[in-house]
Amino acid sequence: LLINGKPGDAIAVLDRGLQYGDGLFETVAVVDGRPCLWQRHLARLQQGCDRLGIARPDGEQLLAEALQVIGHSPRSVLKIIITRGTGGRGYRPPLDVAPTRILCLAPWPDHPAAAQNQGVVVRICDTRLGDNPRLAGIKHLNRLEQVLAQAEWRDPAVAEGLMLDSAGCVIEGTMSNLFVLNEGRLLTSDLSRCGIAGVMRGLVLEMAASLGLPCAVEEMTLDDLGEADALFLTNSLIGIWPVRALEGREYELQAIPPALVEAVMAQGFRP
Ligand SMILES: Cc1ncc(COP(=O)(O)O)c(C=O)c1O
Repeated sequence: LLINGKPGDAIAVLDRGLQYGDGLFETVAVVDGRPCLWQRHLARLQQGCDRLGIARPDGEQLLAEALQVIGHSPRSVLKIIITRGTGGRGYRPPLDVAPTRILCLAPWPDHPAAAQNQGVVVRICDTRLGDNPRLAGIKHLNRLEQVLAQAEWRDPAVAEGLMLDSAGCVIEGTMSNLFVLNEGRLLTSDLSRCGIAGVMRGLVLEMAASLGLPCAVEEMTLDDLGEADALFLTNSLIGIWPVRALEGREYELQAIPPALVEAVMAQGFRP
């Protein structure tokens, strides 16, 4: 664990990340001792800093610290947290505050190996995502909606829950983005009002474009899910998980273009 470049495991109680969730984070796959999709994670982190008015971390310093934390670990998960820093009485952000930079390493998650090939079972959560264009897309530290949504189920056979917004549009999973395939056309939700614009989602959109697969970013309804030939979930650690079943409705795993899956898995987990 590194905090502001120094080994340690304690941050100030008055850190605004703890007090208000005033900060951002990234969860990065580490393969062969290197952080995957580093430039994309860094770009989202820096965009998030710009949106919240937090000083951007220096990219080179952050990479050097990331490699230091990774050490000799071949496969693990790197978590980076940037908070606005310590201080200020009340919510109003102080002007003279130095961000807190936390880097820590965690073991690779023990997701079922079969998820990739056999697909996963998914449910729909009751907890809704609130609209907030100013926070949409970025990976800010306020994750209570996801915490409440994941508390809704304990059945280990259900791998993920989908979340709707207040208007009933399907936005994303509790820890992933969602793609729908319908008659050869891909669709993923518009995230301008809520949701996190995933790094893996971005890669899927690019790979689909380079393979000439039509892909739309639009509002997604429950009807779109019902009519779909296939669904899949994405995030930086799982890559692509096909959905085998959603609330009892079963889907064809084979409908997902293998060339897309291969390209995304190859690019997404290349050190
Ligand atoms: C709510 C939510 N949406 C989407 C994602 C996918 O983001 P990424 O592809 O950057 O891992 C995550 C990842 O943890 C998430 O927590």
